[in-house]
Amino acid sequence: MNIITYIIRHKEILLEILEKFRTPAYIYFEEILQENVQKYFDAFKRYGKFKMMYAYKANTNIEICKILKNLNVGADVVSAGELHIAKHINLNSRDVIFTSNGKTDEGIDSALNFGCTINIDGFEEIEIIDEISKQINKRPKVSFRINPEVNPHTHDKIATGVKESKFGINFKEALNAYKLAGQKNFEILGIHCHIGSQITEIEPFVEEAKKISKIVTDLHKAGINLKFVDLGGGLGIDYLHNGSYNGLSHNDLANGILPIVENLNKNLRYDVELILEPGRSIVGNTGILLTKVLSIKRTPYKKFINADAGFNDLIRPAMYDAYHKILNLNDQSEGDEIFDVAGNLCESCDILGRGRKIKANRNDILAVLDAGAYGFSMCSNYNSMPKPAEILITKDKKVKVLREREKFSALIK
Ligand code: LLP
Repeated sequence: MNIITYIIRHKEILLEILEKFRTPAYIYFEEILQENVQKYFDAFKRYGKFKMMYAYKANTNIEICKILKNLNVGADVVSAGELHIAKHINLNSRDVIFTSNGKTDEGIDSALNFGCTINIDGFEEIEIIDEISKQINKRPKVSFRINPEVNPHTHDKIATGVKESKFGINFKEALNAYKLAGQKNFEILGIHCHIGSQITEIEPFVEEAKKISKIVTDLHKAGINLKFVDLGGGLGIDYLHNGSYNGLSHNDLANGILPIVENLNKNLRYDVELILEPGRSIVGNTGILLTKVLSIKRTPYKKFINADAGFNDLIRPAMYDAYHKILNLNDQSEGDEIFDVAGNLCESCDILGRGRKIKANRNDILAVLDAGAYGFSMCSNYNSMPKPAEILITKDKKVKVLREREKFSALIK
């Protein structure tokens, strides 16, 4: 479905919502969310033991998490807080994996009591989990996060499996880690890897899958038989919307990694469960950030559209120089002036979009596209800005408020 046509088609409903809830506000579309999940299931359906654990960090709005649970999607959680949400919506512990390079004792305790997989990130953590589990008399279910040293060809700040990364156990040390865990009273379930986000080429995924398969085969030879292989996050998405995006389709991903997994199964003589933990490609294009034009400013050097959202609402442009397409819902015609769309924070880097040909007037509503992933979840109260509302347009076109806009009273609690 073409997202721009979709948004324009919903223009009236969006403008109506804003009369009531004001800007800035995040709007999510359930229909697109469902479609995104289905695309993965369709592409991987030929592999019987395929499972998705949605990366909660992308967007933990509880209603989004519930919709995904009802679509049979589990959770990749990275903190005691995300684990709390997964438990709260009654996800089965089998459908939750707890990953973090720095797990708090509270998080470990909570994961042990819940019984989900704890994805161990380092050698010392083996001892820590062993100790805490003995104190509370629980047998840990574990996997290991392995750093495969693969360059994902993405923005440096979101590359996670290069050799200098803080995440995981280096692949050369994987066997030793499993052997050490084998001496503990652990249930060793699987292997995990995440090489980065917004990946648009198949080669890094293939290299990752091959390196992990080799470790699983070596472990099998050493008598350790893993049940699952978790290859981490999912596909990159098209932020540009100009026809030039050259990323991967769901089928490209399936065609790239399934033969490697099938080959692994032959070596093992049993089938492993294949897990993916997509975040961005599940929620990214399901969400937009609506922001109002406060004023237009023309300086001798540059022109600005001053909007009422800033990097407190959407940090991706400031943090990763990320491009998000911006549409004026009141007027989609291309103007002939070039503007920077500026946020209203006291920071020069608070620019939502640079060099945009947008025609806009005071009080127009701008939609910042593809803001569903790492949007609200990375919000802050910087400059004492209240957090925006989150609203869902359901499949049957109902407007559901998922989270009210934060009140000023919250700022002085
Ligand atoms: N699994 C693990 C262990 C991860 O660390 C991540 C993302 C994912 C899954 C989901 O990856 P995805 O399918 O979304 O590519 N804030 C950044 C993205 C950081 C991603 C960190 N890890 C951004 O806004 O681009």
